[in-house]
Amino acid sequence: MAVRERDPLTGYLTTGHEWDGIKELSTPIPHWWVSVFIASCVVAVIYMWLYPSFAITEGYFPGTLGWTSRGQLKEEVVDARAAQAQWRQRLMAVPLDQVEQNDDLRRFAVTGGRAIFNENCAPCHGVGAGGQIGQFPSLLDDDWIWGGTLADIAQTVQHGIRNDDADSRQSMMPTFGDMLSAREIDQVADYVLTLSKPADDTSRAAMPGAAIFAQNCVACHGATGDGNREMGAPRLNDGIWLYGGGKAAIVRQITHPRMGMMPAFGAKLGEEAVRMLAVYVHTLGGGER
Ligand code: HEC
Ligand code: HEC
Repeated sequence: MAVRERDPLTGYLTTGHEWDGIKELSTPIPHWWVSVFIASCVVAVIYMWLYPSFAITEGYFPGTLGWTSRGQLKEEVVDARAAQAQWRQRLMAVPLDQVEQNDDLRRFAVTGGRAIFNENCAPCHGVGAGGQIGQFPSLLDDDWIWGGTLADIAQTVQHGIRNDDADSRQSMMPTFGDMLSAREIDQVADYVLTLSKPADDTSRAAMPGAAIFAQNCVACHGATGDGNREMGAPRLNDGIWLYGGGKAAIVRQITHPRMGMMPAFGAKLGEEAVRMLAVYVHTLGGGER
């Protein structure tokens, strides 16, 4: 029979098992561990009593508090809506150009606008509104095709560009591939390229492309290439290009113009969202007064 004896070093009993003279101690579980274990059991039972926790034959035991995570979310959404309602009202109550004067209101509009932007506009203009070269304009700079005041931006967002909304912004560049020879297009492209470079005006005016530009392009792009927002004709003299600033890209645009299309968002998102978006885009860096 195994003999339980006391270990002289620790004072604990041994289990009585012995292997090659090594005896196994019967070390008791520490008191703190036992207390934590019992406390956990008590807490678990109380928790199971209060909250939905275990399955019963029909569904589950709902707990005496009646709490559900779905119910909590619903309450939080209602609270958030209520907290926002006051801000939404204020956003709609002041004229658009005064929204940015009030710090809190501006912050509300910018935060909301950023979220709406990332959901609706980022697929084209990119997260952060940097645009995509050759397709969608950057909204971060002060180079505006249609205008960068709050009212201009709100109008663009509300009605869009070249779509079938009755008030959509409309404009088109003629297909010069049908009207000018390849040589003339080449010459006018060379001329366009000089517009954003410092050059002396007399030598520029002597270029063969100058006359072609004067005859065909100034009506929309202006005598010095300043562009025309009424016409949605971009600036050609600032080195910022929607469709690329290499010669090939410019020849392509003159021969067979691309024209960007943007949907109208007013009907889809509503007036509040359009205001928030306008303020968000306006505060990105290029906003005009
Ligand atoms: C389907 C792609 C598409 C989506 C989505 C889109 N846009 Fe645009 N957006 C364009 C294009 C293309 C242009 C440039 C049109 C042109 O060349 O005249 C443009 C132009 C603009 C301009 C005018 C820029 C200027 O220089 O005047 C603003 C402002 C603008 N978008 C804001 C928005 C906002 C805000 C949203 C989201 C509510 C949005 N866009 C969603 C394609 C899109
Ligand atoms: C009836 C007005 C009109 C005329 C005339 C016109 N354009 Fe345009 N042009 C536009 C519009 C509008 C756009 C912008 C298209 C867009 O936003 O998608 C444009 C865009 C361009 C672009 C692209 C700019 C960029 O940022 O990528 C170039 C280059 C250009 N035009 C050159 C010319 C030249 C050269 C002529 C004359 C041979 C000319 N255009 C005549 C309306 C016009």
